[in-house]
Amino acid sequence: MKYIKMKGTSLELSNIIMGCMRLNSLSLSEAEHHIAAAVDAGINVFDHADIYGGGECEALFARAAADAGIARDKIILQSKCGIRKGYYDFSKEYIISAVDGILTRLNTDYLDILLLHRPDALADPEETAGALEMLKKSGKVRYFGVSNHNPGQIRLIEKYFGEKLLFNQLQFSLAHTLLIDSGMAVNTGIPQAEERTGGTLEYCRLKDITIQAWSPFQKGFFEGTFLGDQQYAGLNEEIDNLAKKYDVPPVAIAVAWITRHPANMQVILGTTKAARLQEGCRGSEIPLTRKEWYDLYRAAGNRIL
Ligand SMILES: NC(=O)c1ccc[n+]([C@@H]2O[C@H](COP(=O)([O-])OP(=O)(O)OC[C@H]3O[C@@H](n4cnc5c(N)ncnc54)[C@H](OP(=O)(O)O)[C@@H]3O)[C@@H](O)[C@H]2O)c1
Repeated sequence: MKYIKMKGTSLELSNIIMGCMRLNSLSLSEAEHHIAAAVDAGINVFDHADIYGGGECEALFARAAADAGIARDKIILQSKCGIRKGYYDFSKEYIISAVDGILTRLNTDYLDILLLHRPDALADPEETAGALEMLKKSGKVRYFGVSNHNPGQIRLIEKYFGEKLLFNQLQFSLAHTLLIDSGMAVNTGIPQAEERTGGTLEYCRLKDITIQAWSPFQKGFFEGTFLGDQQYAGLNEEIDNLAKKYDVPPVAIAVAWITRHPANMQVILGTTKAARLQEGCRGSEIPLTRKEWYDLYRAAGNRIL
């Protein structure tokens, strides 16, 4: 397992994260087994959000991690807030109360990392930054980041916040490549030249913001996995060939396609199968060649000139 040292912090993070969005589909003992399997594989970061399972995922995680005997200081707990039923809310009052709820459900005094989940169009960045300052001063949150934010949105918060935002959680996978598409088609008229992320990848790299790739195996927005899907037959063939070459399961190749990118991204695995989670971890540091990486990109239906 590869670990990422975050500049200016004591954080050393596994580049594979266990995503807890689907955890509430497991029983307590299954969740315990799943978390223990993650730790065994070298994962030390666990991604939550206050809305996952309406709070059930965080509560189940806390009970299961305790049953598995996982020491609090050996893991990095990350959660997100800002999405409410039908609207987004980055108001100070809401962020503070959301974090109190998260801490109660996770049964902990502090979060290692808090992310703002999805940009609130009505956010007052000074107010939002004020909430983050309060959480930092009270010791309830150690480090901060965002999710699904573009560079301007990050800079707006940082204008009023006394410290750097360290993470940006974004959808990125072989079937969702918007972060990189336009960068390879600059100044051309082909459709992929259209910049839909506001240069987010380059900005994050310039500012040492670690990108966390969500839904690494999903096509579309939770429409099912591309792995083994006939609609992605060419991609699966390419993945299977590389899986044989590197002697790993196909799922590890889909992970490796993300970890091979020099931005040093983290990959959030949302599977609820412990074996699949451990298989995915095998993609943490596979040294795909440049050609293999591009072959996969093209096999997914993308074009290079
Ligand atoms: N910031 C955001 O806006 C945002 C949005 C979405 C998710 N997230 C985070 O990202 C994490 C991962 O998201 P995700 O669960 O959508 O990602 P994912 O890992 O791409 O998808 C996992 C889902 O695909 C299923 N699956 C079916 N066949 C599979 C196969 N062959 N290999 C792998 N998976 C297969 C899994 O089923 P099984 O359980 O049966 O394996 C599971 O339901 C979440 O847990 C959450 O922490 C963040």
